[in-house]
Amino acid sequence: MPDITIGILGAGKLGSTLARLSMHAGFATLIASRRPVSQLKWVIDTLAPGAVTTTASELIAGADVIILAIPLSHYRDLDPDAFAGKTVLDATNYWVEVDGTVNEISTLTHSSSEVIQDWLPASKVAKAFNHMGYHDLEIEVDRKPTVPRAMAYATDHDEIRPVVEQVVSRFGFAPLDLGPLRFGLLLEPGSPLFGEAIPTDEFRDKLAAIYTSPFGQKVIAARGGQIQ
Ligand SMILES: NC(=O)c1ccc[n+]([C@@H]2O[C@H](COP(=O)([O-])OP(=O)(O)OC[C@H]3O[C@@H](n4cnc5c(N)ncnc54)[C@H](OP(=O)(O)O)[C@@H]3O)[C@@H](O)[C@H]2O)c1
Repeated sequence: MPDITIGILGAGKLGSTLARLSMHAGFATLIASRRPVSQLKWVIDTLAPGAVTTTASELIAGADVIILAIPLSHYRDLDPDAFAGKTVLDATNYWVEVDGTVNEISTLTHSSSEVIQDWLPASKVAKAFNHMGYHDLEIEVDRKPTVPRAMAYATDHDEIRPVVEQVVSRFGFAPLDLGPLRFGLLLEPGSPLFGEAIPTDEFRDKLAAIYTSPFGQKVIAARGGQIQ
C-alpha cells in the first residue's frame, strides 16, 4: 500500500497526541486548527516535532486520511465539498462539558459518526481513535507493548478498511473491526467500551457482554428490541 499523508484537524489534547503517534509511525503528518499557523506552529514543534502545522484548508486538500479531533459540536464548520473523496477517521465524541448538556446532535439510533457521515456524504467516514483517552494513547508511544491495545473502528465503506487498519496498526494499536458505522455507537461515551485501553481478547469479552449492560439495554430499547 503506498504511503499516505495523515491530516489531523484539531490540535488540542487528542490532535497533538495523534500527531505525535503519526510522526512516530513515520507518516507524513499535517495538523491544523482554526488558529493561524504562526500561533500553532511553536506548540506543534514542541509536542509533535516533524508534524507540519498548516491551515485547515491546506490540510484537507493535502491529506489522504483526515482524522477529526475537534469538538463534535463544531462539525458544521466542515465544508463537505472540501472533504469530497477523502477518507475521514472520526475521533470525535459528544462530550457534555464541551458540547452542552442536551445532545441535539446524535441519538441511540443515530450515532455521532453517522451524523458526520451524513454531513460529509462524498467522504468515506470511519469511527476510530475515539474510545481511548489521549493519556492512554500517549503511553503507547513509548511503551511498545508486546500485546497491543485494541482500537475498535466502524465504517460503512469496505474499501477503506485496509487503510484504517494500516493507520491504526502503525500508530501502535490492534485494529478491531466492529462492522458498519452504526455500531460505532458502542464506542461512544456511556458505553462500557468507552475509555477502554485493553488488549483485543479483553475488548472482545466486553463487547460480547455489552447488550446485557445497562447501556446495551438502553440501546436495545431505543432500537425496538433489535440489537442493530
Ligand atoms: N481528550 C481525549 O482524551 C479524547 C479522546 C478521544 C476522543 N476525543 C474527542 O476528540 C475531540 C477533541 O478533543 P480534545 O480533548 O483534543 O479537545 P481540545 O483539547 O479542546 O482540542 C480541540 C481542538 O479542536 C480545534 N478546533 C475547534 N474547532 C475547530 C474547527 N472548526 N476546525 C479546526 N479545528 C478546530 C481547537 O483549536 P482552535 O479552537 O484553536 O481552533 C483545538 O485545537 C473531541 O470531540 C473529543 O470528544 C477526545
